[in-house]
Amino acid sequence: MSYESMLIEKRDIIKSILCQHYNLPRDRSEVRVSRRNILGFAGENKQYSLYVSALGHKYKIFAKVSDKAGHEYDNLRFLEMNSSLEYVYFPRPVGFINIGKEQLLLLEHIDGFQNLSKILCRMFFRRSDRIEKIVNINKLVLRTIHDVHRNIGQIQIGSLGYEGARALDVVRTIRAIPAPMREKVTKQLYLAIKNAPKVRRGVTHGDLGARNILLSPDRVILVDWEKMQKRGFLCVDSCMFISYLVMRCLQLCIRERRVQDISDRLYRDLSNTKFAFSATGKLQDNEKVIRLAKCFAEIEVLSGYEKRTIRSVFKNIVLLRNRQIKYLVNSIIRDVDSAE
Ligand SMILES: Nc1ncnc2c1ncn2[C@@H]1O[C@H](COP(=O)(O)OP(=O)(O)O)[C@@H](O)[C@H]1O
Ligand SMILES: [Mg+2]
Repeated sequence: MSYESMLIEKRDIIKSILCQHYNLPRDRSEVRVSRRNILGFAGENKQYSLYVSALGHKYKIFAKVSDKAGHEYDNLRFLEMNSSLEYVYFPRPVGFINIGKEQLLLLEHIDGFQNLSKILCRMFFRRSDRIEKIVNINKLVLRTIHDVHRNIGQIQIGSLGYEGARALDVVRTIRAIPAPMREKVTKQLYLAIKNAPKVRRGVTHGDLGARNILLSPDRVILVDWEKMQKRGFLCVDSCMFISYLVMRCLQLCIRERRVQDISDRLYRDLSNTKFAFSATGKLQDNEKVIRLAKCFAEIEVLSGYEKRTIRSVFKNIVLLRNRQIKYLVNSIIRDVDSAE
């Protein structure tokens, strides 16, 4: 059965949830479902817009089917309970229901925003001032990520136990780093982790790719909270975001030197923010923590690319995958060199 017919079958439950959320009379409300068409995705569409209307009011809902939607709903409820109402950094959860083996997540629809991926794609054709624009837009994103870290949940002090062990495990499997070099990188990384200062932990998003960042001219909202952690290594969240962004810039055929410039400027912004990533907050400790987090993020992104090998030669060329891998390998080697 298709998702669409399952949605129609569940229309009554969906209606109850929406009417309760928006305080509408059930017997006089109407629910309508329409499919969201997303270019570039193959297979069955898993995202829908729902509309509920009554008494002259009409509300739009964003709905998506996934096997982790229930988990994402719990995460969003946690965010809602642990942040004050004035901070709107995430879509408000409306509800979720089981649909076949998966779940349907219902969220308040965010209007007037565009995802960062689309905004960056449009810059492909604007060569003159795009570096400045990219840096400025993404400084705003970085600031929002700090605000989320600062304002939601509690900040705690912790060691690099989990992330350190994972980075060491993963870096050993990366084929793009030549074997003798891999050994050296692993050793240096091990030392850097062993001598690392204590870090600050708290609520992290965990998947800050460009598609999960929605922008209006002056505000940022983060979506897709499936991988949220309550005690994540805060700095990795910002570094993951910069790494994914840098990968996008390479796809936009921006010259490597310029991409490096964008990356350097955003990392400088990260160092200059008043937010301390290390437990002591000392400048030197902060720098160390940022360098390690950068390295962890790049290892994670690179390993993701290697795991999801794209068979189609055409897609590889379009995505400039080799260019991205080369950039990450060089960057990891450099980071590890300076991390100790
Ligand atoms: N609440 C929302 N309102 C409007 N658009 C949304 C909302 N949540 C997500 N989107 C849009 O849908 C896209 C995919 O949503 P996301 O939650 O990231 O799903 P996926 O798990 O498939 O990545 C996002 O890039 C964003 O453009
Ligand atoms: Mg997403």
